[in-house]
Amino acid sequence: MASETTQNSDSPTVINSRTYMPRIIGFLCNWCSYAGADLAGVSRFHYPPSLRIIRVMCSGRLDPHIIFESFIQGADAVFIGGCHPGDCHYLEGNYQAERKIKMVRKLLERTGMDPNRLKLEWIAASEGERFARTISDYTDEIKALGPSPVAGPSPDMEIVENLLSAQKAVYNFRLRAIVSKERKLIEEGNVYGVKKSQEEFDEFFDEAIQTEYTRQQILKQLSKGALSVKDLSSKLNIPTEIVLDNIVILRKENQIALEKIENFTPRYISLLEGGD
Ligand code: FES
Repeated sequence: MASETTQNSDSPTVINSRTYMPRIIGFLCNWCSYAGADLAGVSRFHYPPSLRIIRVMCSGRLDPHIIFESFIQGADAVFIGGCHPGDCHYLEGNYQAERKIKMVRKLLERTGMDPNRLKLEWIAASEGERFARTISDYTDEIKALGPSPVAGPSPDMEIVENLLSAQKAVYNFRLRAIVSKERKLIEEGNVYGVKKSQEEFDEFFDEAIQTEYTRQQILKQLSKGALSVKDLSSKLNIPTEIVLDNIVILRKENQIALEKIENFTPRYISLLEGGD
């Protein structure tokens, strides 16, 4: 039987190319993509049995932490189907979904998980054939990527930990506020009427994402035991001055504390239960 080696983000995995069927979690909007899937079924348009469908009322209602949870639980990919722009039953839900997915993809890149394992598509209730074709094509794309590096009996624990940090990062109020204000900041401007260009916004957003992700990585490490700035820098491969800046902020926010000073070196510990 034919088999091949597929290179994941981190580890090579031997898979059987004929029988391997990815597990794709599909969050489908009730009003369009879910109805499109239904139409594909009743019209007998064939598509592979790779999709586990979860119906949501609107693509905009999907919380980013659920996308990370799907990956942490071993999904090979996550597919989100929403109404075409202008057709959302809740007016702006699909635009919100688009912005959230943009944030999740940026975080996925940092975790070591291929961001192509996340896909957003607009599919209408009348597009049964297109639904079947989209899922077939996406299944092929994920087959080519191979199984998720965190699925199976020996998951890549570094990526799992990174995904957990990213999942915590998306709870951050500042990130959520930036996501919800993207359109306003670009089209109408801030409270002083100052607008940002798309490039300026993306740069500002990238920086906010990186900052929150770094803080969550630091908290994760400090939840396992006391560490110095230098320890954190080498474990996370982040320059010491960046670690130090974040340590100062996390201390100010009472998320970490000085545990002890050993050989003139301060060691810090997380104050949050289980690193949460
Ligand atoms: Fe379908 Fe909002 S109702 S995306």
